[in-house]
Order: sequence, then structure tokens, then C-alpha cells
Amino acid sequence: MCGIVGYIGNKKAGPILINGLLRLEYRGYDSAGIATIENDNIKVMKNKGRVNNLYELDGINNLVGTIGIAHTRWATHGKPSKENSHPHMDNSNSFAVVHNGIIENYHELKTFLIEKGYKFVSSTDTEVIPNLIHYYFSQDKLNDDKKVLRAVKNTCNSLKGSYAIEILSKYNKDKMIVTRKDNPLVIGKGNGENYISSDIPAILSYTKDFYLLDDNEIVELSRDDVKFYNKELRSIKKQVKSIEWGALSAEKDGYDDFMLKEIYEQPKAIRETVGAKLDNGHIEIDGLEITKEYLESINKIYIVACGTAMHAGVATKSIFERLCKIPVEVDIASEFRYRNPLIDEKTLTIYVSQSGETADTIAALKLAKLKGAKTLAISNVIGSSITREADYSIYTHAGPEIAVASTKAYTSQVVLLNILGMYFAEKLERVDRDIINKLKEDIFKLPTQVEEILKDTNRIHKFAKKVYKEKDMFFLGRGTDYAVSMEGSLKLKEISYIHSESYASGELKHGPIALIENGVTVIAIMTNSELVEKSISNVEEVITRGAKVFVITSEEIDNDEISEIIKIPKTNTFLSPILSVIPMQLFAYYISKEKGLDVDKPRNLAKSVTVE
Ligand code: G6P
Repeated sequence: MCGIVGYIGNKKAGPILINGLLRLEYRGYDSAGIATIENDNIKVMKNKGRVNNLYELDGINNLVGTIGIAHTRWATHGKPSKENSHPHMDNSNSFAVVHNGIIENYHELKTFLIEKGYKFVSSTDTEVIPNLIHYYFSQDKLNDDKKVLRAVKNTCNSLKGSYAIEILSKYNKDKMIVTRKDNPLVIGKGNGENYISSDIPAILSYTKDFYLLDDNEIVELSRDDVKFYNKELRSIKKQVKSIEWGALSAEKDGYDDFMLKEIYEQPKAIRETVGAKLDNGHIEIDGLEITKEYLESINKIYIVACGTAMHAGVATKSIFERLCKIPVEVDIASEFRYRNPLIDEKTLTIYVSQSGETADTIAALKLAKLKGAKTLAISNVIGSSITREADYSIYTHAGPEIAVASTKAYTSQVVLLNILGMYFAEKLERVDRDIINKLKEDIFKLPTQVEEILKDTNRIHKFAKKVYKEKDMFFLGRGTDYAVSMEGSLKLKEISYIHSESYASGELKHGPIALIENGVTVIAIMTNSELVEKSISNVEEVITRGAKVFVITSEEIDNDEISEIIKIPKTNTFLSPILSVIPMQLFAYYISKEKGLDVDKPRNLAKSVTVE
């Protein structure tokens, strides 16, 4: 995880770097630091804790350097502390490095360097990098303008693992070097200045023109130039990509928190995701050239992802099964990649990732590709790593999602997976076309229906106030409602730190009901008219044992013993997760606020998990 920023230009680097770090804090926030070059020396300032803690450091506002690198950390090796914060320097204070990723062979490299006389001050894996650069630099007898680049290249050849790194060198005071492997890094092209960042939104207010780096590319930046090299240091050419997102979409825009803003952006995100694929009821998916013959040859679909994105897969499995008549398995990426799944060229594997940078999801994709399966990535970030690996890439149009807990990305993923299921079904012609046409009509109604739910959130807030001090909660549902109960439970854990479990309502009697006692809170989701009676019976069972029940439903339910009923609009069962999840998101949000927690940056979490 971790976020990195860099700047080279004519302005003071300090404020630009700190501003960028603040926007990347979702990637890690246990320590932060910056390095600039002043009076021919590298100056490093770092501190434990949030990025704002940098302002506690003497002289932080007086930095005059116009070139600098910066880092916000999510600790992997070594506890959060000032010593373990980045940037890290080599022993001679000639090279400063910030790093996102994990160096798997750092023990071996550290031993090698210690034998050569190098000393280490931190417990991080990163500290081997500046020292190794120094080692290769000092071994190189050639004194030309590529000497630092060669040292970086040789260092990268020695590293195993994943990295995005920025390097400042006192031997090359007007240049900066960056490189990446399996971790994100983008370069923002300005006029007489250039920017570096782990993601695009963090520097969108400075430029809209970006270079997207591929694995193992090494880049040398100066104020007016960006030079790209492959891993053998041969020059390569790269195209600039212009990005459309407005800088404002990465701002809070008057809301207290990004999460609340993103919850309220869902009608727009859904509208844009639908609008980009469903034109006048005709499905057109850019980047997808899948034939009827290929679809007929598929014997299985895997949907693979992590966290909330995986829940989007669980919520949409049934559309592929019911409308395409193809068996579907949804798997957690970190499990899928190590369980030797049965995959061959007749398997279609779909990967869902908001960021497109999640390490396990990317590794799962690479594995399936090796086994000959077709790979299709669904991401929210154009040009993200996963989209560059996959055979096909299609996009949600949610705009930048900043809060760690995913909201608008989830609903957009569920919408897009439904559209994909319909697209396949139209080609396969295994079900009556009227079913698909009706579904299309229902999809167009979703944004207005979400707006309707968001208009009145008082009752959700009231219930949250009633239960925010609790230690445990249970979420129940059947079918697609069960998928949403999993997501509701995850949201609550992530931002309110309340322990919660989700269960398929019918499974309750097989053990978990033993945990239901007086006062326990149960959240039940019931949107499927065919299953509502069975779900009500399950709710009665917990009420009998003293539970307080909060129901989210699109059905008419008349039951005085239910503490609160939230009515949501009716839609097709395949689409119901898009509506029923909204009260769940708000419920978790209000509880977190009542508890006075940091909604956008919950403890121990990071938005983009680029380590295994
Ligand atoms: C992290 C985030 C989750 C997210 C998951 C997958 O755990 O905290 O919110 O769902 O990663 O992220 P992705 O970018 O692959 O969708």
C-alpha cells in the first residue's frame, strides 16, 4: 500500500508534496515524510502519524527546494515510527528513496550490504534500496550522465517483490528517477514542471495529462523533460493520456466526509455507468469483442475479487446463471490463486477491482491467463494495472472513490455486471428476450430510485443512534439479499469497528441462532417477494429470542415487533442489491459518526491493497 508523490519544477516542492500526500492518505496513514534538495544537499523531514503531523516539524514551512519526493505509509516491515518512515537514505546521504510495495529478498540484500560495511537504522525492507543504489553507483567506474540511472537499473535487477519507487540523488540535483513493478505510479506532465503520484486524482488539480508507467520501466524526469527507458536502459517512447475527471470530483465538495459524498454520488455514478453501455436500450460495451460462438463454448465463469468488489460478484452471480445458463463461481482472489482452480480455455474469468491495483486480484488474473482462460477486468480506473494485463477491460464510471469504504464503486460494479450478464444473454439467446428487455427498463429507473432512498435518511440515522454502542450485530438475507447482507456487515466492521456477521437467513438455525439473546441487533434485508414469507419467519425466530430487528424491504410488511422498517423502491431481484445496500451504507456511516470515528480513514485499512 502506501502513497507516493513527487514534484520537479520551479515552485516550492514542500506544499505540493504535502497536498498530494493528503489526497493519498487513503493508501496508508501511519507515518509520512518528504525529501527535497536544498543547497546541494538532500533534506529529509518525516514524522509518525497522519500527514498533518508533518506540520509539527520545525522548518517544514520554510523548505525552498523545487524538487522533492514524498510518502505516506501503511506499515508492512517495521512498526509505525519516525525511523521506519520514508524517505530512507543511504549511508552517505547521497540518495533518498520512497517506496510502495514489498522487497521480498530484503534479508538477503541487507546481509550482503552489511558484509560490505553498510549500516541500517530502520527495520524496513525499503532501506536496502538507497544503499544498494549507492553500492552500484560506487562500483561503476564510468562517469557519464547515466551513472545514477545505471545504479538504479542494477538495483532493480537485484530486487524481488513489488515496488513503485522515487529516487532523489545529490549527484543529479535537477533530476529525479522513478520506476515501478506491480505497484502503481503515474507521471503528470506539466509546463516546465512534472508530477509523480500513486494515483491520478491526487495530482488532477495540477494537470490532466498523464503518462501511465508499465512494469520495469525506468523514468528520468527533469523540469522540462520526461525520458523513458526499458529495464535494459534502452530509450522507449510513451504516449500522453488526457484524463477527463474534474479535480472537483476528488474534493469533499461541502460534505463532511468523502464517504457521505460518494454515497450521494451514486445516482450519478449509476447513470453514467448505464449511459456508457446502454444506448436506447441497445447494449454496447467498448473494449469487449466477444462472439456468440465463444460464449457458447464457455463451461464456467469465475468472478474473482477482494472485499467489496468480491461482494459485487456474489450479488450478480445469479444473473449469469439464470440468463446465460452458465455455472458461475465467485471466489476471493487470495484463495483462488493458491487453490489450483480448474481452469482451461473454456473458462471465462472476470476480475472486479475498483482501483485495478489489488495485488491478489492481479495475481489471480495472471494465473488464469497462464492456464489459457480468457480474462476480463472490470475496473474504475482507466489504465490501471489490471486493465493492462487482461484480455478485455471494461469500466465502471463512478469517478474517483476516495473513502476507504467502497460505496459508489460497489453499486456501479453491480450495475455493470448486470449489464454484462444481459449482454451475454442477448448473444446466447437461451432465455426469452422479453426478460432482458424488462430488465433494461428497470436498470434505467435505478438512479431515480436511489435518489428517492437518499431523500429521507432520518429513520436510518435514528436507528443508528439507538444501537451505535453495541458490540455485535447480525445481518440476514436470502438470495441476492444475502449478498447485500455480506456487504452491509463488511461496511459496519470497516468504519464502526463493531463486530458483525452475515448469514443466509435459512442457515441461522444451524448454529448462529445460539448467539441471539435479549437486546442483540439483527438487520434483515427482504426484497424478494417469493422469499419474503420465509424471511419473516426467520425474523420472528430472532424476535422471540429478544432481538431488536431493523428491516430493509421493498415489500409490504406489517409487524409491530420489528423496531424499524425502511421501505425502499421495488425493482427486479437481480438489481435489488443496488437499492438495498444504500440504507446499509448509511447505517454504517451514521454509526461511525455517532462513535466519533474517522469515517474516511478507518484504522488498519487502506483503500488500495497492493501487497498480498
Ligand atoms: C481494500 C479496500 C476495500 C476494497 C478492496 C478491493 O480492502 O479497503 O474497500 O473493496 O480493497 O479493492 P479493489 O480496488 O480491488 O476493488
